[in-house]
Amino acid sequence: MKHRVSRREFVASTAAGIAATTAHDIAFPIRPPRPLPPPSRWAAKPVAVASANGLRAVQKAFDMLMQGADTLDAVIEGVKIQELDPNDDSVGYGGLPNAEGVVQLDASCMHGPTKRAGAVGALEGIKTPSEVAKLVLKYTNHIFLVGEGAKRFALQYGFKEEDLLTEHSREAWLHWRANLNPDDDYLDVPEAQHMSTRPTGTINCNAVTPQGDISSVTTTSGLAWKIPGRVGDSPIIGAGQYTDNTVGAAGSTGRGESNIMVCGGFLTVESMRRGMKPTDACLETLKRVVQLTVPRLLGPDGKPKFDVKFYAVNKRGEFGAASLYAARYAAHDGTEAKLRDMAYLYDQPAASR
Ligand code: GLY
Repeated sequence: MKHRVSRREFVASTAAGIAATTAHDIAFPIRPPRPLPPPSRWAAKPVAVASANGLRAVQKAFDMLMQGADTLDAVIEGVKIQELDPNDDSVGYGGLPNAEGVVQLDASCMHGPTKRAGAVGALEGIKTPSEVAKLVLKYTNHIFLVGEGAKRFALQYGFKEEDLLTEHSREAWLHWRANLNPDDDYLDVPEAQHMSTRPTGTINCNAVTPQGDISSVTTTSGLAWKIPGRVGDSPIIGAGQYTDNTVGAAGSTGRGESNIMVCGGFLTVESMRRGMKPTDACLETLKRVVQLTVPRLLGPDGKPKFDVKFYAVNKRGEFGAASLYAARYAAHDGTEAKLRDMAYLYDQPAASR
């Protein structure tokens, strides 16, 4: 005989099930998942938006939103997939190291509902800096921890110190060092010519819940072969990402120094506050980047020799992204997670990036 489950029993058992599995899976959640209101009472279209390496991140974040998870827990669990993936050499474990062969990671996050922020810079030995940034947000009176202090803080919360170099990232650094100076004592490695570019990969992810709550996170290993101690835009609140729960969120990937100069996360959110749609707000920020670009960073055609990208969501769940040159981004719009073309300022690719 079938046992008929009442609506109250169903909601209670679903919530308990979600809490039991997800709270266990997610270290230090902001809050346990709770049942969603019926769709007729949703204040926003739930969405998750990320850089192009974040296809799995937006799927994970969106699934969690639909299970009633907190918006920050959702985006952090999303970007952790890339941080833990040894094949993504722009983020977390396997990220390309600094000039001395040491992986130094940066991350920041903001939680719209509680108006809180957390960040870590030049963090060594911890695979998931986004989680450490969330712990700074959740458990401290501070916003930004760096270097040795950030690592000690992470270890106190049970994180393990690990070697973040993979075979690939160590080899890439050794090749870069060998070819750096033809007069030094390291013999050049001809087959390493493809290492001549300096990747600035990163992942940014922003999400809006059905209740209209918003969070953002950005995490990176930063510019490959950087001067030790260099911190990019990703952990800078207002540059790498920014959230205002009454307006929206925005984040960035690409050349960090150019974003820091324009406070791009903040500027994009402020443009949305003045009524711009997310894509237009991202384009507006890019125009400011171009205005502030010094001549040594412009090609013979007068266009920037680098790229920088912005991603944005607003309070209603509208979203968009833009970059200097044609590129793609990841979004889950409630139907499916897929890569989309982003708006861009310039048709031709830059002479070099
Ligand atoms: N946007 C990443 C960095 O420049 O470090």
